Parts: sequence; structure tokens; C-alpha cells
Amino acid sequence: MLSRRNFISKAALTTAAATFAPALTSAIGAAQRSSDTTIQNSPLSEKTLLGYRLPAKFGLGGVAAGNAFHINSNEAIEKAMEAAWNGGVRYFDTSPFYGYGLSERRMGLFLYGKNREDYILSTKIGRVFEPDPNFKVNPNDIWKGKLNAKFKYDYSAQGVRKSVEDSLQRLGLSSIDIVFIHDLSPDNGNMGEKWTEYFEQARKGAMPELTKMREEGIIKAWGMGVNRIEPILKAMEVADPNIMLSATQYSLIEHEDALNRLFPACEKKNVTIVSGAPLNSGFLAGKDRYNYSNNIPEKHLAKRQKLMAIATKHQVDLRTAALQFCAAPAIVTSVIPGASSAQQAAANVASMKTVIPKAFWQELKKEKLIANNAPEPKIA
Ligand SMILES: NC(=O)c1ccc[n+]([C@@H]2O[C@H](COP(=O)([O-])OP(=O)(O)OC[C@H]3O[C@@H](n4cnc5c(N)ncnc54)[C@H](OP(=O)(O)O)[C@@H]3O)[C@@H](O)[C@H]2O)c1
Repeated sequence: MLSRRNFISKAALTTAAATFAPALTSAIGAAQRSSDTTIQNSPLSEKTLLGYRLPAKFGLGGVAAGNAFHINSNEAIEKAMEAAWNGGVRYFDTSPFYGYGLSERRMGLFLYGKNREDYILSTKIGRVFEPDPNFKVNPNDIWKGKLNAKFKYDYSAQGVRKSVEDSLQRLGLSSIDIVFIHDLSPDNGNMGEKWTEYFEQARKGAMPELTKMREEGIIKAWGMGVNRIEPILKAMEVADPNIMLSATQYSLIEHEDALNRLFPACEKKNVTIVSGAPLNSGFLAGKDRYNYSNNIPEKHLAKRQKLMAIATKHQVDLRTAALQFCAAPAIVTSVIPGASSAQQAAANVASMKTVIPKAFWQELKKEKLIANNAPEPKIA
């Protein structure tokens, strides 16, 4: 691992109400059996996956730490991280974009007190920030509170070094393990069709630079951090990433495309997957939003109701089922739900130890609510 000094010398949604729907996570959890084991990654020899593998199937996402949807206090985020840590979580994902630096500052402050070798940290590149004295709150922004900064997209080699260096300053830590190229994707509202032009900049700049940084030992792994499949497939064609953060693409609500196109392609290239937004930004925990928008498609609301009815019948908590479902495929090396409170973080950790009856998954398949070829979580 390169020291910070060396690093420096090398450096060239909408608003949503936080309405928690208790009906979705009601008392049914009480009837569930808890196991001593959490869902683990199978040994490397079992699969021919050579991509970067995280120590455990479960991590913590940093969107909530950036004040997504509502303001969360420093204390609430610290307690959420503490609850996750005490529950055994050792992988944390953040980004300069999450609250324009706030998530990195908060996560860094918590992790500062830990031994560096005891946890894995990922952050992202693609946006470079600078202070903005004229910053004005935009009520439609996903991030709440004062941001006091502005950014420009930069997927060049220099942009990567600059962004990583800035992240280290905000985090107050000496190293980052994984770097994801963030939001270089057709669903990025600032890019749309033009995402391929940004991709071209990344192909020539960010991607070879990240490979170089991996070879230099500065980072352990890199990949795309996106909410669509295409940029991941394209990156694997033109570069040699070893891990991908795929968000919103594999959940109980929608997963066929990831299952049939993304996972086989990653397996072929020995690239592992971190599954982001496993609750569809809280939808599967009962929130009134779907994938960062409060414009929820009717078909998803209807599907959630059907899932809920079967979950209640089998005395299964839907959020628990959602998290385990995301973790089940062998290629998924970690699932990283976000949490804005200690209670949420602890509940999510507990979910990974909860035994769900096989009959539940079978009924979901029979009712065509999940794909027949979707791996079923196994926990005993
Ligand atoms: N392009 C990318 O690279 C990308 C995109 C998306 C996500 N990600 C990563 O994936 C992580 C997870 O995504 P996410 O945090 O946006 O969405 P998520 O994990 O699907 O949902 C998180 C939200 O669900 C609610 N929640 C979580 N646990 C709960 C519990 N036990 N009980 C009740 N509600 C609960 C909370 O909402 P409230 O805070 O409102 O209570 C929380 O903020 C992110 O944090 C980020 O690290 C990456």
C-alpha cells in the first residue's frame, strides 16, 4: 500500500418523504429463526471467479450518510456505523458525490478510530468538487442540507488522481481499497445519450490509470459504480476491471436482466459484483420511493403488495428476504444496504442471519414473482 505522501507526489431524485411503513416490517420477524452463521462467500476454489472478493457478503452503503432524502444527524450516522461494525460489518462504501463530501467525512471520522487493516473501504471517482460560496439549497435535490460545493465531471487520468487525493483528505485516512467509476451511465440525467462521450474519456484516462494504480499497489480493485448494465458490459470489453458496483439492477422487484446478461458476462471475465441499493433505495423496507424517485411505477407497487402477502403467509420479513435474495448469487461478493440509524443497521445485520423457509422462495417462483433461475439464499 502506498503512503499518503507518495500518493500526493503521484497526484497529477427527487425529494421523498421518509415515511416508514411499519406494516411491511411488522411483528412477523419475531417468528423467524436466527442462525449463528451469516451468508458467507463460498471459497474461491468452488468457483473460477478470480475477481476481487470481499471478506463477507455484507457491507454498509454510504448514501444515507450524505443526507439522502432527509437530514441525518452526525450522531445518527455514527451510531449506524457503530451498530454495523458491532454486528461484524467490515466493508464500507462511500462516494465524493454523497452529500458532496459529507458521507466521506462522516465515514472517515468513524473509521479513523479503527485499525486500517480491519476493514475494506470503497469510494468513487468521476466528479471533482470545489467550494461554492454561492451555493443555494435546491429542494428537489436528493441531498438535503447545505452542500457548499459544486462539481464538474472528470474521467481523465489526472481527474482520477485528483479525486482520490481529495477523497483521502476528506476521509482523513491513508488509503482506499476499491475505486468505482461513478455514474458514467445513460441514466445519469446530466449525461443521457452523451454518456458514451464520457465513457470514451474514461476509456482513455480513468480506466488505464486505475489499472496502473492497482499495479502500483495503491488500490486493490476497481470497476464501474452504476445503475445500468451497459456501462459495466462495455468497461469489461475495453479494460480489465476486477469488481463492479451494480446498483438497482438486482432486487426482488427487478432482476432478470442482471441474472441473464450481467452475471454471465462478469463470470466470463472473472469480475465480481457488489450489489447496491438492494432495497431499491428503501422501497422494500416500506419507504414511499423507488430507486431515488417518489414517482413509483404502479406495477412495482402491485408487486410489492404481492410479495408482502406471501411474506406474511410464511412469517418472513420482506426486507430480510430482499437482502438475502441479493446476496444469493455466487458472483455477488457483497450486498451493501444503506442505513440512517443504529436500529436499521442492526436490523439489516440480523437479516443476514435469519433463516427463511425454502417454501417461501418456492412460492415466489411458482407465482412468477422471481425468476426460476434466480439463486435461492441458503442459510442453516
Ligand atoms: N451508482 C452507484 O455506485 C450506486 C448507486 C446506488 C447505491 N449505491 C450504493 O449502494 C448503497 C445502498 O443503496 P441505498 O442506501 O441508496 O439504498 P438501499 O440500501 O436500497 O436503501 C437504504 C434506505 O432504506 C431504508 N432502510 C434501510 N434499512 C432499513 C431498515 N432496517 N428498516 C427500515 N428502513 C430501512 C433507509 O431509508 P431512510 O434513511 O429514509 O430511513 C435507508 O437509507 C448506497 O448507500 C451506496 O453505497 C451505489
